[in-house]
Amino acid sequence: MQSVRPEFTFGAFSCWIIKPNMPNTILIGAQWGDEGKGKIIDVLTDRADIVVRMQGGNNAGHTVLVGKKKYVLHLIPSGSLRPAKKCVIGNGVVVDPIHLVDEIEGLKKLGVKFKNNLFISETAHLVFPYHRLLDECRENSKGKNRIGTTKRGIGPAYGDKAARMGIRMIDLMDADGFSELLKQRIKTNNELLKALGAKGLSSKKVAADYFAAARKLKPFVTDTVRLLHEACQNQANILFEGAQGTFLDIDHGSYPYVTSSSTTAGGACTGTGVSPNRIDKVIGVMKAYTTRVGEGPMPTEDESLSEHFHEMGREFGATTGRARRCGWLDTVLTRHASMVNGINEIAVTNLDGLDTLPVIKVCVGYRLVSKKIDYVPNAMGSLAKCKPIYREFPGWLSPTEKCRKWSELPLNARRYLKAIAMLSESRIQIISVGPARAQTIEL
Ligand code: GDP
Ligand code: IMO
Ligand code: MG
Repeated sequence: MQSVRPEFTFGAFSCWIIKPNMPNTILIGAQWGDEGKGKIIDVLTDRADIVVRMQGGNNAGHTVLVGKKKYVLHLIPSGSLRPAKKCVIGNGVVVDPIHLVDEIEGLKKLGVKFKNNLFISETAHLVFPYHRLLDECRENSKGKNRIGTTKRGIGPAYGDKAARMGIRMIDLMDADGFSELLKQRIKTNNELLKALGAKGLSSKKVAADYFAAARKLKPFVTDTVRLLHEACQNQANILFEGAQGTFLDIDHGSYPYVTSSSTTAGGACTGTGVSPNRIDKVIGVMKAYTTRVGEGPMPTEDESLSEHFHEMGREFGATTGRARRCGWLDTVLTRHASMVNGINEIAVTNLDGLDTLPVIKVCVGYRLVSKKIDYVPNAMGSLAKCKPIYREFPGWLSPTEKCRKWSELPLNARRYLKAIAMLSESRIQIISVGPARAQTIEL
């Protein structure tokens, strides 16, 4: 149904809302990230007014294919590729201003326009070069116990935020205050860096780089909490773009092999200031199999599947280019994801990745030493010891990339999808059979 709702304005910006209704929707990853969130966000943005990033930073890499052009978004919401949509970087995101300026410039070169359509929270915390250096030093010093971070400084930046030593976007907008804050923070961090064997930073150089970035970002910086509140009051439809995935969540993930933010649905409210009673729906995105990049347990990891995908040129990280570890779909994990996120609908991506496999396995439980369990153990040592209990499905052995309707999918693919929906205790609403917009089936 088409609806025309009142114009909403915020400061100098305004927009008319004329489009089919879509409820306020949180979209999160139901596995270990890289589920194909960017592609699904891009498809859904067509029906939304505003797309908001609520957590993470440029550790994220969301791939969107529009025609023949491939875009990889790190900090800018994936909705930015649809003109006339508003994009918000919420307060829960940690922003590396130098990276953000580069990302904006890079997207501009690809034809994306940024005019009255990008809003950056003034209370978002900033990532500094000392965060990146500390991230790297800490990873190096951990040796085989490393987390396998993206080395973008995400952990140290969220650490400073929690320790109340962070510097926010609003601080960067105030030149005098910022210089003083930065000087103090660089002094403390240089001591830390030197203790870890790294070279210290010059606060003058960092300040100059950050001021240059601040000049370019200033027009976009605003109070996004009030902006989103006004948008809600005017019935604008908001799409919350999660980064990372449920099992990288600081509370609910496979700690300590996680990122440092709330990647689960709850993070959408704290990371944007939109209240929980404004949320209508949660979509969980999952691959038709499992991937993970970085260290940490992954019960269904399977070397032959990794080879299968890597030989096809698939499953290399969008941010770091690292080969992703691949394994069969783990419904113990996806069921847990349904529980902690309140997933109403699932989007299954990369179904086409399984097209050529004669037998497809799905993990339905774990064997932990002599016990069978059907939940995710919290102790990392236990998760590492879990051996998957598989149910096998016959493959469909035919290409799905041209399927556009449920009825066009091979029978065995439909059986597989029905089974994984049931095992994940949720309902499949979207199926993706290729990276392009059109390669999407909606039920
Ligand atoms: P995100 O971080 O969750 O947005 O996912 P990434 O972009 O890091 O990784 C997902 C990869 O899968 C990207 O290369 C996408 O272009 C690709 N992709 C998404 N959906 C599909 C699909 O259904 N089939 C295929 N073949 N590729 C897909
Ligand atoms: P998107 O949004 C997959 C992983 C890293 C590492 C751990 C901690 O594209 O799905 P960090 O740099 O955040 O401190 O790293 O988290 N990781 C991701 N894995 N997709 C991501 O984002 C990721 N962001 C971080 O590989 O294991
Ligand atoms: Mg990614």
